[in-house]
Amino acid sequence: MSTVLEHSAAVGTDAPVGRVGHLPYAYFEGQIVPLAEARVSVATHALQYGTGAFGGIRGYRSHDGRAVHLFRLQDHYRRFLHSAKLLRISLPLDLDGLCALSAELTRRNGHLGEVYLRPFMYKAGVDLTPGLDGIPDGFTLFMLAIDGLPPLDHGLSVMVSSWQRVTDNAIPPRGKIGGSYVNASLIRDEAKEHGFDDAIVLNARGKAGEGSVSNLMMVRDGTLVTPPVSGDILEGIDRRRSWSSHAISVSRSWSARSTGPSCTWPTSCSCAARWPRCSPSSRSTDCRSGTGRRDG
Ligand SMILES: Cc1ncc(COP(=O)(O)O)c(C=O)c1O
Repeated sequence: MSTVLEHSAAVGTDAPVGRVGHLPYAYFEGQIVPLAEARVSVATHALQYGTGAFGGIRGYRSHDGRAVHLFRLQDHYRRFLHSAKLLRISLPLDLDGLCALSAELTRRNGHLGEVYLRPFMYKAGVDLTPGLDGIPDGFTLFMLAIDGLPPLDHGLSVMVSSWQRVTDNAIPPRGKIGGSYVNASLIRDEAKEHGFDDAIVLNARGKAGEGSVSNLMMVRDGTLVTPPVSGDILEGIDRRRSWSSHAISVSRSWSARSTGPSCTWPTSCSCAARWPRCSPSSRSTDCRSGTGRRDG
């Protein structure tokens, strides 16, 4: 909780809520500018090869309605800095600087409602040769108002995807690397085409990994189980935090024990009693129905 409160932005104006859309200001090339001015060339390396990585941070309006609390900001930026190492990107700001910038941009955008912050690092060169070393780096931060998102209280229907999760020694899924979200997009589209809300994707060893853009937990025979970080998953902020707080209290209400991370065969998903999923930045929900397979 202290992390949240340390990174609140008191917001002056009470801009209209109830909408989803981009907010007017972004950070680009070292300064805060109107979003329309934050532009890159079509030849940009990251656009051509997916050599960028992003974060997804939510902010909530405070109880007294006078500030926006940025949720687990430091945790998100710690992971962001790890992604920078994977892509050999040198960022212009350190952890404290990234947090301070996020609070500043939130103030500047002045939206006193629910927000989503999208920091993005990228290979900014226009040299059309794959590679990472020696290519200039870029960093930007922009924001969306997301008051209008539908609540996740109805549970989700999921299938087991026919796609496989990218592996750690292909494109490391522990970072939010742009190119690897082609994998997430294929998984998500297939699920929608088959009439499901989302899918559980298996890793190369055939073990359940995560949802298209969410971590996975399940209650099976009274035990709370989640795939391990070695299972080709994103090291979700909520997954880690939830393990010791939210998920445990949820599991108590189901009389479940927690065993910690363990490898999970897909058939065990079919046999699970409940599945709380941890999805982007603290939106957790249950999977309400099966895996699209008849083996459970
Ligand atoms: C592939 C994937 N797994 C898990 C998550 C959940 O991560 P977090 O709890 O950090 O938002 C996300 C979030 O975007 C994701 O893209």
